[in-house]
Amino acid sequence: MRYFKKIIGEKCYLSPINIEDAEKYTEWLNDFEIAKYLLLYRQQITMTKEKEILAKMSEKGDFIFAIIDKKTDKLIGNCGFHNINAVNQRAEFGIFIGDKNCQNKGFGTEAGKLLLDFGFNILNLNNILLEVYSFNERAIKAYEKMGFKHIGKQREAKIMTGKKYDKIFMDMLATEFREKNDSKLKI
Ligand SMILES: CC(C)(COP(=O)(O)OP(=O)(O)OC[C@H]1O[C@@H](n2cnc3c(N)ncnc32)[C@H](O)[C@@H]1OP(=O)(O)O)[C@@H](O)C(=O)NCCC(=O)NCCS
Repeated sequence: MRYFKKIIGEKCYLSPINIEDAEKYTEWLNDFEIAKYLLLYRQQITMTKEKEILAKMSEKGDFIFAIIDKKTDKLIGNCGFHNINAVNQRAEFGIFIGDKNCQNKGFGTEAGKLLLDFGFNILNLNNILLEVYSFNERAIKAYEKMGFKHIGKQREAKIMTGKKYDKIFMDMLATEFREKNDSKLKI
């Protein structure tokens, strides 16, 4: 089996990333319909580079997970934490559903909540932050459903295809997550 059920939801589970998926990630990250929402489109993402990135992530033990459809056991996306600050118990949140057939079906919201559960209850994070562009209305809606709050924006921070967009900041505290969610990670 290529994937392992680390955190299990109703529709999907989070698994350690698999380096053999480099080709799939390279395909998704070069697809404008996905990458325009991420910070990556300007970069050259080759399969060699993607393999190196995935290998480094596994070596360093980064908290990045593959999102797997529970019904098919297939890779549909990726999510994880970046810039973890252990002293102040904070981190940044990132997610994408690369398989377009699986977008808008609740996978992103559920995978995000599983990751937040891991972040607040296992990594003992206190504040989780994210950045999203103002044109990404679907992501903003999914983040609101996960429980993130709007905390501010940087105006005209992104210039793309001749237009300027704000960068929106959202965050969540451990207490806010616990108020609304029953942890899947119980002893
Ligand atoms: C953003 C993303 C992770 C969300 O995951 P998802 O599985 O597609 O989203 P969900 O189905 O869980 O929730 C999306 C919600 O937004 C709503 N939505 C969809 N398009 C919308 C739009 N244009 N405007 C407002 N809401 C929209 C959906 O109706 C749904 O809400 P509902 O369940 O109340 O009906 C996923 O779409 C994705 O990876 N997109 C490409 C990359 C990306 O944007 N990553 C985030 C970068 S910050």
